[in-house]
Amino acid sequence: MSERIIGIMGAMPEEINGVVELLSNVQEFHRGQRIYYFGTLNGIKAVVVFSRWGKVAAATTLTNLLLEFNITELIFTGVAGAVNHELKIGDIVLAKRLIQHDMDARPLMPQFEIPLLDKTWFESADDQITQATKAVIKLTKTKQLHNVISDEELAAFSITSPQLVVGDIASGDKFFSGSADKDALLLLLPSILCVEMEGAAVAQVCFEYDIPFTIIRTISDVADEQSHIDFPLFIQKISSRYSVEIVKNIFEEIGKRP
Ligand code: ADE
Repeated sequence: MSERIIGIMGAMPEEINGVVELLSNVQEFHRGQRIYYFGTLNGIKAVVVFSRWGKVAAATTLTNLLLEFNITELIFTGVAGAVNHELKIGDIVLAKRLIQHDMDARPLMPQFEIPLLDKTWFESADDQITQATKAVIKLTKTKQLHNVISDEELAAFSITSPQLVVGDIASGDKFFSGSADKDALLLLLPSILCVEMEGAAVAQVCFEYDIPFTIIRTISDVADEQSHIDFPLFIQKISSRYSVEIVKNIFEEIGKRP
């Protein structure tokens, strides 16, 4: 079996900076306007990089992780806009299935189907879901959350007891900032929990290269007219800290395995 090397991509520089600080023996590699930080975490090799935004940027960053760093699995952390009405800001969605909501090659093939792959959804493996679920629950259901984020900061976003939901995510090159767009998407894809701009592209590349992936998204906004206002402060105060703790917990989980 090839040596385990875990790629970690984050959709915001703030998230990446905290994760880089977890690494030991860090080396920097500059490629294609990205900086790849290579080091070890809990004795396991890891490469951390800011994905940049959108499907092309994320797919390109990931391809470089695969071809230059030979990663054997991928963890992606970032924020998302909720479309499911039960999700609240601060909740965490773990992707079970991902779809590209802006893929539409009709009439050549059905809406959302990825050309040449005969696939519409990309699925995360059960092992990855189990591992990430343990890591998220450890953060949200123990005092770890309150150790890293003050009660005042949580209260500023009305976060009381963040929930983890495992399910469907839609990705595409669009920032959702209106209820009409959100409702139109839900009409076509009613199982979607949240929207973001990279996950399903990353999932497609992982599928094509046959490596497991974990996509973790913290709800930063509810994809409505306020979404662009809510989101910068949320990343700084909440989701960047969630990401660091969840990555730390995942590596602890991995370390427990024989
Ligand atoms: N990421 C975070 N919020 C988002 C939104 N409203 N639309 C798309 N991607 C997002």
